[in-house]
Amino acid sequence: MTRSEHTAEAWDAEAPTFDEAADHGLHDPAVRAAWQSLLLDHLPPAPARVADLGCGTGTLSVLLAECGYWVDGLDLSPAMVGLAEEKAAASSDRSLTFRVGDAADPALPDGTYDVVLSRHVLWALPDPAAGLERWTRLLAPGGRLLLVEGSWSTGAGLTAEQTRSLVESTGRECAVLPLPEEHYWGRPIEDERYLVHSPA
Ligand SMILES: C[S@@+](CC[C@H](N)C(=O)[O-])C[C@H]1O[C@@H](n2cnc3c(N)ncnc32)[C@H](O)[C@@H]1O
Repeated sequence: MTRSEHTAEAWDAEAPTFDEAADHGLHDPAVRAAWQSLLLDHLPPAPARVADLGCGTGTLSVLLAECGYWVDGLDLSPAMVGLAEEKAAASSDRSLTFRVGDAADPALPDGTYDVVLSRHVLWALPDPAAGLERWTRLLAPGGRLLLVEGSWSTGAGLTAEQTRSLVESTGRECAVLPLPEEHYWGRPIEDERYLVHSPA
């Protein structure tokens, strides 16, 4: 079994219960509103074209499509993509596509996206620096990167400084916004969670 088949199988196993976490399913209106507000504060005005890399069950993709964005979601896990497609069908929004694919080398058109969005995926790539460099090539002139990452109590993840340094190594400037507030996670947190945004 290849590395990516192994990764896909592991995430397939997570898919049925993935949306139970408050920040994954966004079932709590207050948590949903917090993410919507955070994302809209850092996105260009709709309509704009967004690539959601490692989109999981498509929660953020659907949220943005409902706000008027065109969103292409991509994830390695067929089970995650299946759930994302169900959500898209239920939302009646037609400005969404989902596909199975590797975010390390996404089969999406270069130079096309106003935003590359990725939440909790960069840390999991085998070579985050190479992945990030690839992601920047998806951006249209003036496009921006929006990365939500963390250095979790489990020991997994990337610190904000590691992510900042990865983005800067692509030649882009960026800013870090810490996200310690309970309203993003549905519970108090003590580990490091943050948004890194890199305008054009
Ligand atoms: C923690 S989940 C985050 C899902 C979604 N971004 C969210 O915030 O709700 C990580 C996701 O990344 C996907 N993933 C992991 N490695 C990937 C890769 N190399 N290419 C594409 N997706 C990947 C997993 O299948 C999983 O859906």
